[in-house]
Amino acid sequence: MIRLVGILVGLGFTFVVLLAFGSGALTVMGQGYFVEETAEHAFHEEAHMPAEGYSFDGLMPSWDLAQLQRGYQVYKEVCSACHGLNQIAFRNLDELGYTEAEVKAEAANWVVPGINQDTGEATTRPGLPTDYFPDPYANDIMAAAANNNAIPPDLSLMTKARHNGTAYVYSLLTGYQEPSAELAERFPDSVPGPGLYHNPYFANLNLAMAPPLTTDGQVTYADGTEATVDQMATDVAAFLTWTAEPSLVDRVRLGWIVMGFLIFATILAWLAKKQVWAKAKRKD
Ligand code: HEC
Repeated sequence: MIRLVGILVGLGFTFVVLLAFGSGALTVMGQGYFVEETAEHAFHEEAHMPAEGYSFDGLMPSWDLAQLQRGYQVYKEVCSACHGLNQIAFRNLDELGYTEAEVKAEAANWVVPGINQDTGEATTRPGLPTDYFPDPYANDIMAAAANNNAIPPDLSLMTKARHNGTAYVYSLLTGYQEPSAELAERFPDSVPGPGLYHNPYFANLNLAMAPPLTTDGQVTYADGTEATVDQMATDVAAFLTWTAEPSLVDRVRLGWIVMGFLIFATILAWLAKKQVWAKAKRKD
């Protein structure tokens, strides 16, 4: 009797497993059959252009301060017209190698919201090192009104919010192009309408941001580096990697120290174990 129950349970189990595999396989096959192919599927470039040679890549990362300063300059002179950076305070700029006096002077170049001390009315004042980067628009309604109904997102965490963020920002900035004839032929609806721009690196192919970096020399770099579009895109992508995780370099370094300590502690534990059990006799 017990044996019979065992066999039945076994058969039932096998049946359920087969059912699971079967339905899984059908779902996977079904995707090919039933999901209509869209322009996004066909023309979105998942793989970003290589943005290689960054000092913060790899197992021994470091910040290239000159590059971060150039990237900051691009953000300030181009992107900040539309994008905020609300996770970063001016005082954080000292991590880019600016002195305290330079940070103070830099903060004062920015205009931040303030309060008129005599009347209590809203007004503006020069920034202080403790202030955070101001939003360019008073609220989302104003931002959307100025940008063809799209709200320029805050860029502080952008490189974390997109897959392979550094390369994504670089690709987005350098990837604007005319829609291909094939796209126009197969998906006429996907050709950008007025106020939209085609960019295969953007998830749905058309975005409301006009190409922000268009001409070589758009920014005059303080350190004399030639400001090609490629260079500006590379530098601002590096800067936005720093804003998203200023502690990246410290985190990896700390990781190495922790690994070293763990290896040391393991050796110590092994030696201690040998010491403690040294006098015990084997029984065999
Ligand atoms: C004239 C305004 C304007 C300027 C200048 C500008 N942007 Fe944008 N940006 C936008 C708008 C609007 C969007 C939203 C686009 C959309 O969702 O269709 C956007 C979106 C983005 C996105 C998000 C894309 C995504 O995946 O959601 C990134 C990244 C970006 N901008 C980076 C930059 C950088 C870097 C600069 C400076 C080099 C810059 N932008 C300059 C208006 C601007």
